Amino acid sequence: MARSYLIGVTGGIAAYKSCELVRLLVKAGHQVRVVMSEAATHFISPTTFQALSGHPVFTDVWDARPENAMAHIELSRQADVFLIAPATADCLARLAQGRCDDLISTLAAARTCPLVVAPAMNRQMWENPPNQRNVQQLRADGVQVFGPAHGEQACGEVGDGRMLEAAQLFDLLQGCHQPKILAGKKVLLTAGPTFEPIDPVRGITNISSGKMGYALARACRDAGAEVTLVSGPTALTEPVGVHTLAVRQAREMLAAVEQSLSGQDVFISVAAVADYRPAEYHEHKIKKQHEGVPTLSLLENPDILATIAARADAPFCVGFAAESRNVLEFAEAKRQRKKLPLLVANLAQAAMGADDNEIVLLDDAGQHPMPRMEKSAVAWAIVQHIAQMLATASQH
Ligand code: C5P
Repeated sequence: MARSYLIGVTGGIAAYKSCELVRLLVKAGHQVRVVMSEAATHFISPTTFQALSGHPVFTDVWDARPENAMAHIELSRQADVFLIAPATADCLARLAQGRCDDLISTLAAARTCPLVVAPAMNRQMWENPPNQRNVQQLRADGVQVFGPAHGEQACGEVGDGRMLEAAQLFDLLQGCHQPKILAGKKVLLTAGPTFEPIDPVRGITNISSGKMGYALARACRDAGAEVTLVSGPTALTEPVGVHTLAVRQAREMLAAVEQSLSGQDVFISVAAVADYRPAEYHEHKIKKQHEGVPTLSLLENPDILATIAARADAPFCVGFAAESRNVLEFAEAKRQRKKLPLLVANLAQAAMGADDNEIVLLDDAGQHPMPRMEKSAVAWAIVQHIAQMLATASQH
């Protein structure tokens, strides 16, 4: 859905990342308007943002270009989200106090849309107690705080305070509108395939891309949950704001899930776990045989979902069933066998690797079919269903 974003740029070197963010938003079909503090113009010229956004850039509350000469109201009223990136320590302090002494602070005060800040500063400034108080105050006021990240800083020091990358801000912005229907909940997910090695260069795996599991991890994060993602090998980027653990084999996946299980409210098992693994691992590459064909004997892997669902302290468990035929019949049998309150059924050929998916949710109330949608929309529909079931369960 095309949205209208107002981006406020304050005076930090991370302003260069905001150029890329504006480009990403425009490329995705969104409307972007940029406002800058006077200090920001020392790092990036307003002309750069004007060229990237396709709109004039405002820096001054006294700018007479808006028809009613009220830039401070006009600009934020047209926006669906106001993101300040980078937000300096000084900017955060003025927002926390509700001061209105420049265009950006005045726009924040006069806005009707959600406000998001992406702090960027030296690690000492980030940890400075008054700054921490200001961030806490802004969170309490309903402002969303994206980042900052940990790492090397422009000043050469290493610590917390780096602004998130443009792609990460872009990712978080897509979901910042969503209602926080999983606030206070902890969600653990598995995603992707597993890889069961035969020798150093060969193994058994499947065509799962991890896209559905990663989309669900993002949707849970956007719904306000604290999310842990145990991922098999995929080509996907780690979702920002999600604690991601990389594993390879089914047994490693089970161990990571068991280690992360304490305190989890929900476990969603999206991974396409290999049912079997080679009985033997060859330390050296198996040489081609010139007489006969080698045989591969297999051992059964643990069923991660069934193991977790059978525990006395099991969280609310959600399974996935990718079937190539008789989808609903096989899926319901699987739900009963693994004793799951909720199972997501889909046609394997249509789901694995694709960007969209068509699912049916199966629970004690029956079957709930969903239309074919992008995996991000499918993920949000699943999150809504889970949140509803958790709310109903807590009433009883
Ligand atoms: O492979 P199957 O169709 O039984 O998968 C159904 C559900 O069980 C999925 O949610 C999958 O992630 C989970 N599973 C698992 N461990 C396995 C096999 C499947 O957690 N070894």
